[in-house]
Amino acid sequence: AAVVRYKFVVQESNYTRLCSSKNILTVNGQYPGPTISAHRGDTLIVDVINQATQNITIHWHGVKLPRYPWSDGPEFITQCPIQPGTRFSQKVILSDEEGTLWWHAHSDWSRATVHGLLVVSPKIGTTFPFPKPHAEVPVILGDWWKNDIQAVMEDFMRRGGDPVPSDALTINGQPGDCYNCSRPYTTKVYVDKGKTYMLRMVNAAMNNIMFFAIADHELVVVGTDGAYTKPLKTNYLAISPGQTIDVLLVANQPRNRYYMAAKFYSSNPRSLFDNSTTTAIIEYNGKYTPSPNSPVLPPLPAFNDRNASANFTSSLRSLASNDHPIDVPMTITRKLLYTLSINSIPCASNTTCAGPRGTSRFAASINNITFDAPRTSILGAYYRGVNGVYGDDFPDNPPFVFDYTAANLSTSLQTPKNGTEVKILKYNDTVELVFQGTNVVSGIDHPMHLHGYSFYVVGSGFGNFDRQRDPLNYNLVDPPLQQTIAVPQNGWTAIRFRANNPGVWFMHCHFERHVSWGMEMVFIVRNGKGANEKILPPPKDMPKC
Ligand code: C2O
Ligand code: CU
Repeated sequence: AAVVRYKFVVQESNYTRLCSSKNILTVNGQYPGPTISAHRGDTLIVDVINQATQNITIHWHGVKLPRYPWSDGPEFITQCPIQPGTRFSQKVILSDEEGTLWWHAHSDWSRATVHGLLVVSPKIGTTFPFPKPHAEVPVILGDWWKNDIQAVMEDFMRRGGDPVPSDALTINGQPGDCYNCSRPYTTKVYVDKGKTYMLRMVNAAMNNIMFFAIADHELVVVGTDGAYTKPLKTNYLAISPGQTIDVLLVANQPRNRYYMAAKFYSSNPRSLFDNSTTTAIIEYNGKYTPSPNSPVLPPLPAFNDRNASANFTSSLRSLASNDHPIDVPMTITRKLLYTLSINSIPCASNTTCAGPRGTSRFAASINNITFDAPRTSILGAYYRGVNGVYGDDFPDNPPFVFDYTAANLSTSLQTPKNGTEVKILKYNDTVELVFQGTNVVSGIDHPMHLHGYSFYVVGSGFGNFDRQRDPLNYNLVDPPLQQTIAVPQNGWTAIRFRANNPGVWFMHCHFERHVSWGMEMVFIVRNGKGANEKILPPPKDMPKC
């Protein structure tokens, strides 16, 4: 295994999209940011140098960082932010991740422009569990606001309602042919007829799941979240913010140009969202008579087709082969049920509020607790035994039982509590966690992401989780190993993992507006007894608050 070094200079750079320019936060001046390439088991040293005028942190999304939470990145969870004019050298220890991952800022909404791919190739001398593709193609889905992103966030927090929708969706930073002023810059992917390409995809958008397809081409999903899957043939895919998907594309069609396209899926059409379509062009090399018209758009499911989303998400399967075995916990020591709710809370007296019913503002909660981020790092406080930064009372079950997914639930019943509560796990606890979506203010999918772990997704369904009946249908044979999973609207998802990575690990919805509203919590996994079961000491240059 090698040590690979990167230098990340965080800086403001001027970018123009949709005929309008603004300064955005970038890494090394690039948007999307630089791709990190490594092999399985390598160690990365990334020197993050903050030359911008705002705080930043960088998170390695999907990297488990065994026993080394110090580099994980979420602001005020594992570290204090890297302040302007300072630097932090982050050691990123890869272990068994293989496939496409990504990195992104984890401070306010700065990840909108501060993100890039982290590609983990098979170990030298080993290969993919499928024939080696001719080339690898990055496909980074994102969104773009003409306004400054910090201003978009502050405006939405002040109003208390939904954020202003983005002005465009993007593929590799470009909106594509369907938008003003964008056509000359549309992302193009050149292919040779007869060859196979591997799309390394991530949904880096802030607030929505996306549907994606390529006109006249079948997609073969072979991996997600840094683990391989059984090949899944499909005409479209649904990808959550935070999720990565590896797709094989066989260039086997007769014409010269085809669109790939993506647009938002929103299970709750009442919330504001960007209903536009981003495109990139697949262009066949060689002598073709150019088609006279624009390439055709692929059909995509309707923007609110929750079955299309849930069907795709629930058809992923682990390889579960001799070379890629699975290790699903079979006996469970911690059974947890976490409700995911959108709440509405009273406006502060001297403010106007644009939340539900016009007289309230949105909030969000897990087990009815809206998370308050502390002013200092929870990891630092835990490691040094500092009291008063967090509580350890995160409940194993919701505080009250009701029909979570019924229509017209009384919102007065469920005003959340605020708190900075963590859930303590013992080393090697075997955890089953059921996420239960609720319809408290309005039901919507929640792409839940856990730091420090991959988990097996053993079951999901619409409606209320049934503790007796639903576990009988769990897939314990080849469940997919993921780090971000879309919990269906007014439905549930069950995951299992073994708590064998000591540390302080953030868990949150990957919709940025829901994070801003408080849909997050923290696991602290205690040290084990063995010498190799303890958190490693912190680096000397940890940022200070
Ligand atoms: Cu990709 Cu905590 O996030
Ligand atoms: Cu959410």
